[in-house]
Amino acid sequence: MRHILILAATLFATSAQAETPRDFLTRFEKEAGTAASAERGARFFSAKQGGEWSCASCHTEKPTQAGRHAKTDKAITPLAPAANAERFTDAAKVDKWFRRNCNDTLNRVCSPQEKADVMAWLLALK
Ligand code: HEC
Repeated sequence: MRHILILAATLFATSAQAETPRDFLTRFEKEAGTAASAERGARFFSAKQGGEWSCASCHTEKPTQAGRHAKTDKAITPLAPAANAERFTDAAKVDKWFRRNCNDTLNRVCSPQEKADVMAWLLALK
């Protein structure tokens, strides 16, 4: 009974709190079991990996700038938190778009390590 109460309290605390970009870095690093590398994240972001697109195809190689959808040409606001305070503040949105964009780019989901690396790089951009 006691740990059910603790679990409920923990769930409530996390859902009531807004997430920050750093929380996602921490979460992905924990899932990956290793430290992230911003350098590896930078390479990953601009490399095509079998498909037609890289992450940079839509988010540009400098994600402090606005991007453009490679297919629909729709404007995309900057992905880097330094340039866009709304980024990486909502787990549902982050998970949905990682899943979708990784599938579009790599034909598979991104590993926790890849997500951690991208986060580390995006957080390092000024
Ligand atoms: C074909 C275009 C396209 C490609 C390629 C693409 N994205 Fe995106 N991405 C989008 C669009 C569209 C959105 C949602 C609209 C928005 O949030 O501005 C988005 C949103 C995101 C978000 C949501 C962040 C947040 O909190 O708002 C993340 C994370 C993301 N992309 C990461 C990536 C990564 C990593 C890659 C490469 C594996 C990638 N994207 C490749 C178009 C793309």
